[in-house]
Amino acid sequence: MMTYTWMLVIAVLVDSANGAGSQGDIQPCARIHTSSSVVPLGSPVTATCVIREDCPLVIGQAVHIEWRLGSELILNSLAANESNRVSRIVVPSFNRTEALLVCCIQNCSQVVTGVEIRAGCPPEEPQNLTCQTKFSSPSSLNCEWEPGQRDTHLPTKYSLHTEIRDINENYTYKLPPDVHHYSIPRNEFVLFNDIKIYVKAENDLGVATSAPLVFDPVQAAKFDQPSIETLGVEPKRLGCLKLKWRMSQQQSWFSHNQLSLEVRLWTADSDQMSGPPILVSQVRPSKAVTECCRLLHGTRYLAQIRVRYYMQGPWSEWSSSKSGVTLETAPTGRLDSWMKVSKNHTSKNLDIQLFWKPSKQFRANGQNLTYVVLKPNRRDKRERMCSTNEKWCTFQVSRRVRKVYLSAVNSVGESPLTEIRIYQPKAHTAIMDVTAVPHDDRSFLVQWRAEVTLGLTDYVVEWKPLLNLDLSHIRFEIVNKNQSSLIINGSFEPYKPYGISVYPRFKDGMGPPQTVNAYLRQKAPSVVPKIQIKKTWWSDIEVSWDEIPLQQRNGFIKSYQVFYWEENGSVQVERANAEDRKVILKHLNTPSTYEAFMMVSTFGGSLNGSTIYVKMNSFGWYHILIYHLESQ
Ligand SMILES: *[C@@H]1O[C@H](CO)[C@@H](O)[C@H](O)[C@H]1NC(C)=O
Ligand SMILES: *[C@@H]1O[C@H](CO)[C@@H](O)[C@H](O)[C@H]1NC(C)=O
Ligand SMILES: *[C@@H]1O[C@H](CO)[C@@H](O)[C@H](O)[C@H]1NC(C)=O
Ligand SMILES: *[C@@H]1O[C@H](CO)[C@@H](O)[C@H](O)[C@H]1NC(C)=O
Ligand SMILES: *[C@@H]1O[C@H](CO)[C@@H](O)[C@H](O)[C@H]1NC(C)=O
Ligand SMILES: *[C@@H]1O[C@H](CO)[C@@H](O)[C@H](O)[C@H]1NC(C)=O
Ligand SMILES: *[C@@H]1O[C@H](CO)[C@@H](O)[C@H](O)[C@H]1NC(C)=O
Ligand SMILES: *[C@@H]1O[C@H](CO)[C@@H](O)[C@H](O)[C@H]1NC(C)=O
Ligand SMILES: *[C@@H]1O[C@H](CO)[C@@H](O)[C@H](O)[C@H]1NC(C)=O
Ligand SMILES: *[C@@H]1O[C@H](CO)[C@@H](O)[C@H](O)[C@H]1NC(C)=O
Ligand SMILES: *[C@@H]1O[C@H](CO)[C@@H](O)[C@H](O)[C@H]1NC(C)=O
Repeated sequence: MMTYTWMLVIAVLVDSANGAGSQGDIQPCARIHTSSSVVPLGSPVTATCVIREDCPLVIGQAVHIEWRLGSELILNSLAANESNRVSRIVVPSFNRTEALLVCCIQNCSQVVTGVEIRAGCPPEEPQNLTCQTKFSSPSSLNCEWEPGQRDTHLPTKYSLHTEIRDINENYTYKLPPDVHHYSIPRNEFVLFNDIKIYVKAENDLGVATSAPLVFDPVQAAKFDQPSIETLGVEPKRLGCLKLKWRMSQQQSWFSHNQLSLEVRLWTADSDQMSGPPILVSQVRPSKAVTECCRLLHGTRYLAQIRVRYYMQGPWSEWSSSKSGVTLETAPTGRLDSWMKVSKNHTSKNLDIQLFWKPSKQFRANGQNLTYVVLKPNRRDKRERMCSTNEKWCTFQVSRRVRKVYLSAVNSVGESPLTEIRIYQPKAHTAIMDVTAVPHDDRSFLVQWRAEVTLGLTDYVVEWKPLLNLDLSHIRFEIVNKNQSSLIINGSFEPYKPYGISVYPRFKDGMGPPQTVNAYLRQKAPSVVPKIQIKKTWWSDIEVSWDEIPLQQRNGFIKSYQVFYWEENGSVQVERANAEDRKVILKHLNTPSTYEAFMMVSTFGGSLNGSTIYVKMNSFGWYHILIYHLESQ
């Protein structure tokens, strides 16, 4: 409260003391002279306070002059040369950025005057001066810079200076305090002519000048985004796309050989432009046409371009994208395949399930691929068994057929035939101890141990979702016989069961697989089985329940536990593991009512079922079940 009123008084007096030539009759009673009202932070400040001899308030009195900095009293020891009406003070190190230095008499109740002292630092050199030419209207040369790192505590004014030597024209642009950018209008810079630009920073304590930039404004031009007119093919230019492009209308006067052009391409089926481009090429175009080669055949690509002044200057934004398809050729490379053969006892034929996938070397070379399975016939004819866009098919062949052929076909031709030998099922056993455990959030680690390796050629690891038995969900990987583990990746979902099998393949056929089920993650089941009473004798009852449907299991069942208790009695538990879906509740008292519920657990969580009531009747061990509705 005190400080507040005191400050108010000062404000009034400071105003009148500063009012140059203070018009009017009242002359202030006191005046302060200081060395400077703005000083470097931490430097000394000297001030002298003079009280007018004829000041009516103090006339004829002995006065004692006091000094305050802000609201703090300054110790008398710092005030020197005190005469009756004059006091001089030295503040040895002025370490506030802003403070009122006040002199007064009589405990500051009567004559008060003050000056504001500010302290700070001289400006630092402006940093990182950059300029960019903008062509779109209105054209300008936009410069910006950073002030120094140090806080100067004082307002700093910037001015931008340009010198265009060839035409001997200089400009200076003065900016308001703390503005760090300026747009030079088009009529004050010249293209294809060097310009020197620098920035001066100035405050009450000094001036600093940035390092100058010297450049041709055209080199600093960020062009408008160019556009792709067409992305197409030329006859016989396999694996190439021809790209016609142009600059924006306003910039079409630029000669192409002053520019750099960058092209980037993606295959259209890759997740659109999320990954890195498959090709980036930089050219110095002589015409508004460029060719991108070494691309896949029959493949749709998306292209974008950008330009900049030859080899320097900022790049334009990327153009919008355009798509084009390279010329098609027949598919090349092998298909990896995987055949499951079983004897059909009704038809005496072999039932065949054939799965395939492109090998690393396979190229579709076209956009619409069909797969055909052919069976050799008499007289070297081939009979078409399947023709499909899927990567599997099923068919029957007679037991005499030894091989079939698989081929990929596009609109231009077909791939070399992959020969697949048909082996009748064999009773070779080779795999032991298959395990599959989650490897990370999206893959499983499958491991196995080989028992018989004589004649073993390789393994096939096959996996599928158990909740969707459609054959199109089956995936496989062929594994070298040296290996005994594989990380399988795919779109695995948590809480869903997968079946993973390892098949040994021999020179003369395939052995039976070992199969394990696996969950990427487990949680509590979605339902609890209903408890049913099987039989009762004496004071025991046997309860049982059905298996939880696979869709609702959410993991491997670890245990079932039945909790039961007599009213106010202690709780008893009977436990059953996943295979035995029954327990016996023993030594029940009669006549009495028991409550019971089941807890079912997977390795990822548990769920409790609703409570049931069991009434034990002494006449003939009779029971009543009432389902409690409270917890469904
Ligand atoms: C004391 O201050 C007066 C007025 O500012 C000045 O004239 C005089 O020289 C000073 N004396 C000393 C010893 O500093
Ligand atoms: C300013 O200086 C005074 C006296 O030297 C000292 O007591 C005070 O802590 C300093 N304040 C700051 C913010 O440095
Ligand atoms: C000066 O004023 C302060 C409060 O502003 C007071 O506490 C102090 O006693 C006064 N001293 C004299 C000598 O009047
Ligand atoms: C100037 O630019 C450099 C590099 O970009 C950066 O590390 C530095 O912090 C910038 N200086 C200022 C004062 O912003
Ligand atoms: C422009 O500035 C340069 C360098 O300071 C000076 O030599 C030249 O005379 C100036 N030209 C004009 C027209 O002021
Ligand atoms: C066996 O062949 C018959 C006749 O082609 C077919 O209907 C049946 O589904 C086949 N059985 C199996 C198990 O594939
Ligand atoms: C793909 O090819 C098949 C067989 O040649 C044809 O029936 C189908 O219409 C084609 N699909 C597309 C999208 O071109
Ligand atoms: C498999 O093992 C054989 C002999 O031990 C070795 O020569 C071959 O390079 C191995 N192959 C792979 C793919 O590891
Ligand atoms: C799955 O991904 C891992 C790591 O990226 C890789 O090492 C492994 O070969 C992949 N497995 C298959 C079957 O593609
Ligand atoms: C159980 O306890 C409650 C409250 O303590 C009591 O009212 C009730 O009679 C008891 N029931 C039996 C069967 O003991
Ligand atoms: C199920 O009930 C048991 C016994 O009362 C308790 O320990 C457990 O926390 C409950 N579980 C859930 C998931 O509510």
